[in-house]
Amino acid sequence: MSSSTSNNPPKFEVKATDWDRTAASYAQLASQGSPMSVPITKLVEMLQTVSPFDKATTILDVGCGPGSATSQLISTHHDIIPSNTQLLATDFSRGMVSIVSQVRDFKLGSLQDGTEKSTWSRVVPLVMDAQDLHPLLDDFVSHIIANFVLFMTDDPPKALKEAHRVLKSGGVFALSSWHRMDWMDYLVIAASHAFPTIGKPTPQMPEFPAQWASVDGVRELLRDAGFKDVQLEFVGAPIVMPKVEASVHAFLNSGNPAVTWITDVLEGNEVEEVEKQLVKVVKEKCEVNDKGAHILNGTAILAICRN
Ligand SMILES: C[S@@+](CC[C@H](N)C(=O)[O-])C[C@H]1O[C@@H](n2cnc3c(N)ncnc32)[C@H](O)[C@@H]1O
Repeated sequence: MSSSTSNNPPKFEVKATDWDRTAASYAQLASQGSPMSVPITKLVEMLQTVSPFDKATTILDVGCGPGSATSQLISTHHDIIPSNTQLLATDFSRGMVSIVSQVRDFKLGSLQDGTEKSTWSRVVPLVMDAQDLHPLLDDFVSHIIANFVLFMTDDPPKALKEAHRVLKSGGVFALSSWHRMDWMDYLVIAASHAFPTIGKPTPQMPEFPAQWASVDGVRELLRDAGFKDVQLEFVGAPIVMPKVEASVHAFLNSGNPAVTWITDVLEGNEVEEVEKQLVKVVKEKCEVNDKGAHILNGTAILAICRN
């Protein structure tokens, strides 16, 4: 999760079944305003600015999770998306794809007839690995969005090449990665306090490739994959905790790969010790907003480019 360079940190390696395990709690977090919400909103706006959705033929959400980017795109642009545009919501986790199907079915059952409902009827949830987008054809897709996904694949350059292969000439690709995540630093501090008390060796936080944590690194990766007109920016992506104890409990029991490197080596009551320490660190280090919520800062890198 971190991009820092400690001694031989383990690589961030997460399987589709690991994401299956956390799909339900991830979807719940996403619906309550997770740190993903600002980057998703901005990425959709960037796509619309560089290549308006009224010319979209196929829109591809890579590593869609519970479908937050697809949902945001439909709710803000359904009235201009052409009536024959397909929206492919893809993820290698069956659990995530199944949640997108449930969201689509709920929308089709609850929305009034109109462009929002008809756009949802053209959403196709698909199990697909970002590193191999077959059977999608070359030069097929007009818009791609990949929010916090590609840096955590086994072979990110391969995933970028696949995005480049399926994107039409002139098509647009918007993606994000993490520059800084204070909450991960706080988790490391909490673990370093809790594990000696528990009497187990403190695990090392897995890291994703350092290149993805810098604007220059992401620019180079995109250019190497053949993309042009690369534009990058930073955006704040905070976690807002209205009630620290409840949020920390939910986070540490979510099965999210951001926490399982700690929780998988602990028993239930031992996780409570990490919870206690994390609550303490958050209260010590975080700003409190005017509503009394603690703010755990994070900074994302957003990129947009063309084929
Ligand atoms: C941090 S979540 C982001 C989900 C979603 N994009 C969002 O903004 O909420 C990462 C997602 O990437 C998916 N993922 C990770 N590696 C993948 C791969 N190789 N191919 C496809 N999806 C992948 C995971 O299953 C998970 O749903």
